[in-house]
Amino acid sequence: MASASQIRLLLVEDVPQVSQYVRGLLNAQSAIKLLDVMTDGSKVPAAVGELRPDVVIVDALLQGRVKGPQLVEQLRNGGRPVPVIVLTVPQQPVEPDPAAGVDAVLMMPFSGFDLVNRVQFVHQASQTQEGAGGSRIISVFAPKGGVGKTTIAFNLAVALGQVGQQTVLLDGNLQFGDLRALLKVPVDAPSILDLPTDRVAESDLRDVLWRDPSGIDILLAPPRVEQAEMISTRDVEKTLSLLRRIYGAVVIDTTSHLGDITLAFLDASDVILELVTYDSTTIHNTILVADAFRSIGYPPTKVQYLVNRADSAGGISPDDLARALGRRPEHNVVSDGRLVVQANNEGVPFVLANPAAPVSQDVRRVAEALIAGGRPLAASARSA
Ligand SMILES: Nc1ncnc2c1ncn2[C@@H]1O[C@H](COP(=O)(O)OP(=O)(O)OP(=O)(O)O)[C@@H](O)[C@H]1O
Ligand SMILES: [Mg+2]
Repeated sequence: MASASQIRLLLVEDVPQVSQYVRGLLNAQSAIKLLDVMTDGSKVPAAVGELRPDVVIVDALLQGRVKGPQLVEQLRNGGRPVPVIVLTVPQQPVEPDPAAGVDAVLMMPFSGFDLVNRVQFVHQASQTQEGAGGSRIISVFAPKGGVGKTTIAFNLAVALGQVGQQTVLLDGNLQFGDLRALLKVPVDAPSILDLPTDRVAESDLRDVLWRDPSGIDILLAPPRVEQAEMISTRDVEKTLSLLRRIYGAVVIDTTSHLGDITLAFLDASDVILELVTYDSTTIHNTILVADAFRSIGYPPTKVQYLVNRADSAGGISPDDLARALGRRPEHNVVSDGRLVVQANNEGVPFVLANPAAPVSQDVRRVAEALIAGGRPLAASARSA
């Protein structure tokens, strides 16, 4: 089985001696996994959609209906951007030109070191670009149960969809996933458990995602409590890296228990949206978690605080809260018992049921701020 950090490589090569040579070099290492060797260029674009390689190597001298340079061009213009390394000989030099779809060149003869280095280089460059391009993983977390994680995660995901992000919502509470009940999905609806653990392709995902009428895709938790144990942190990492390639935003509804699975979600996240309420035990736990995050090595900017029910201060002042958190919370969402409870009971997002309500506007503002990558300019909740 490929490990989550292995780079998935597709080789397009019709000279058996060369593909044999590459196979031999790759056998001696574990950083790169060779998914397949294809000899027919015309079948490669479809295979890229299915196999979802991280890097493709194309022989410049590829013969057949679709020749090497033609294939490079097709991959550049194809639906799914993938970094391409062109393999060539000194008699036919090729210049690296990312704008033309040639991310790097590998000149024969090359060593195992050259090969691995080049693949890692283009992969890393494309990932940096991807990160900068904005696919974001957002974990909705709270150090205490019942403070609104599921409610906020669901509505935030829908709001992200509304502001133009293709969004998937993942139920990260693998034991007691709340989304099945909230959305009233049939008990046999597929879950993260139905994803193959190796060679996960976009087509597998299509069969496993729950398409909610609200317009977002949802990856549900397993239907039975004991099945949670069948999901490893490695499965979580792989699933997230696939979702990240397809969706602009991945929202995860997590649990409050900081176990291995939750930590795998948080590690992979660009933003931990941490819910706080005006409640002394929640604030106390929030401080403990800030300590834990510090010792794990998360930068403080990874966490953004969201005060849920921000207008229900219950005797604690916003200044007290800011002092306890060490800074002013980035987001506020007001309380609206009637709308939120009714929408939850009907399994619909309140941001769609009543977009004009202050609670909906607050969540939409959070979505916009998260997309902008920055922090909101102003919070709507009245300071209590
Ligand atoms: N802004 C809000 N205004 C009014 N009610 C809210 C708000 N946010 C959440 N609630 C209510 O709080 C209750 C708990 O919310 P939710 O189930 O989303 O919390 P949770 O953190 O996911 O809980 P758990 O820890 O059990 O997973 C629900 O009844 C929900 O309707
Ligand atoms: Mg919940």
